[in-house]
Amino acid sequence: MIDFFQEAQNLFEFTRMLRRDFHRHPEIGFTEIRTAGIVARELVQMGLEVTSGIAETGVVALLEGSKPGPVVLLRFDMDALPVFEETGAEYTSLTPGIMHACGHDGHVAIGITVARMLNEIRDDLPGTVKFVFQPAEEGQGGAERMIKAGVLNNPAPAHTLALHLWNEMPVGTVGFVPGAMMAGAALFSIKLTGRGGHGAIPDQTIDPIIAATQIVSALQTIVSRNISPMQSAVVSVTYIKAGETYNVIPQSAELRGTLRFFEPEVKAKLFIRLEQIVESVAKTFECQSELKITDLTPPVVNDIELTTRLGRLAESVVPDIKVDSSYRLMVSEDMALMMEQVPGCYFLVGSANPEKGLNYGHHH
Ligand code: NI
Repeated sequence: MIDFFQEAQNLFEFTRMLRRDFHRHPEIGFTEIRTAGIVARELVQMGLEVTSGIAETGVVALLEGSKPGPVVLLRFDMDALPVFEETGAEYTSLTPGIMHACGHDGHVAIGITVARMLNEIRDDLPGTVKFVFQPAEEGQGGAERMIKAGVLNNPAPAHTLALHLWNEMPVGTVGFVPGAMMAGAALFSIKLTGRGGHGAIPDQTIDPIIAATQIVSALQTIVSRNISPMQSAVVSVTYIKAGETYNVIPQSAELRGTLRFFEPEVKAKLFIRLEQIVESVAKTFECQSELKITDLTPPVVNDIELTTRLGRLAESVVPDIKVDSSYRLMVSEDMALMMEQVPGCYFLVGSANPEKGLNYGHHH
């Protein structure tokens, strides 16, 4: 059997060259044309069956082993972020205003390297590996589009795997948890309408700013008073907009924010209390309210058996690896949509290197 760790070491220069090239040429969601082109070219060269242009820029490749076995889907996201790079690295972004600030350049490089390693043992490989290079993970619905394009059929995978480089965790560590691993997410926006007027004649107005601020305060009680202290949830108001000047009470106000949750009953409670609070507090202050809640992604839920196995495998393949099997996050991931349909495991690979000052947060 191949020594995967040694083989990865042998391919280190190849992986680094790929990663730095992707880093120099970042592309945001659904525009990953150059990136996808390199992915397809590399995989075709290996003799894999490659399909490009799935959900705009997605690439899917099949590696069929010579022995019978299950189909396993490996997913790698490809998109960068609208961030100005100020790292001064020699491989810094050549596109001003766009940067691989989340590590997806590394994911693509890892995906190609893994394909190369598994292709070398094709004769001994039981089953089929389906490589999925996905566009637009950063809140643009790339996974949803790929599922709609049929990525979970022909052949249908029995398991899914995905990883994220993680800069909150040191190099040499792998982190995951069986069960709910990353939070589900929803967005909300609230429009409050009152009656505008003179700032010095408030009694003739209906002030939407008063209603907005009371709603912001009241929303804080959802997590502290409606959710069990043994469960986790987030209600964050991240946007507030009302008024233009000093002496005019505005006609309307707008709030926006995000909800995070793991359990379905917590999600239901967040939605209900949000609706109740917005409607009743607005009414108390004589405003009309309009609430819109948009479901974004479900939680990432790791299959227990698969995840336990992954922990054991990591220890057997990588010498001196530190396995943290209780790592949970409130951030969210659209891989959740694939894992909702096919049992899988999502895990984090430590990438922080504090000695070299390489431990900035994601999206920094
Ligand atoms: Ni990311």
